[in-house]
Amino acid sequence: MIRAFAALALPEAVRLELMIVQQGLPVPRPVPPESFHLTLVFLGELPGNQLEDVHLAFGRVSAPAFDVALRGLGVFGGGRPRASYAAAVPEPALIHLQARLETAARSAGVPLKARRFVPHVTLARLPDRFPDAARLEEAVALRGAWAAPRFRAEDFRLYRSHLGRSGPSYEELARYPLN
Ligand code: 2AM
Repeated sequence: MIRAFAALALPEAVRLELMIVQQGLPVPRPVPPESFHLTLVFLGELPGNQLEDVHLAFGRVSAPAFDVALRGLGVFGGGRPRASYAAAVPEPALIHLQARLETAARSAGVPLKARRFVPHVTLARLPDRFPDAARLEEAVALRGAWAAPRFRAEDFRLYRSHLGRSGPSYEELARYPLN
């Protein structure tokens, strides 16, 4: 089985801004900057032949290139914080592409959970009993006006996720140009 997802890759300048803002957060397990990405669809664990079907379906998606803006930080999980993230502005082209990819994945038989798309880049995953939630909330609130330079998404990519002791690592499997 292959654990896979589709995402937008981020240019170096954006990663750098994310790394700088991440360094100001009191988090024990920061995501390494080379792993920063904006997930479009998490596919779960798929057999190889189904992943091949998803790949074919993604290859048939025709959508325009578009600009992406990352603005503001947040924490998922409410009273039980799970992750801190940089938010992406939910502009129509991004929402449209995400919906197209969900449809493509479903057409390949992937049983996606119905989940509202909250576009984001995860900066840190938090341990179960995270003791610094209040400090983190404060650090995030202080950075409400943070923004990264806008960038153009010229493609979306399929990744494989390898789960390891020191966190997941991601392997790029395919790229699909946006026109
Ligand atoms: P996250 O960044 O918010 O954790 C690869 O695991 C990517 O798929 C991550 O960016 C992760 O989002 C996203 N994802 C969405 N649902 C997931 C799930 N149930 N398990 C693991 N990752 C998931």
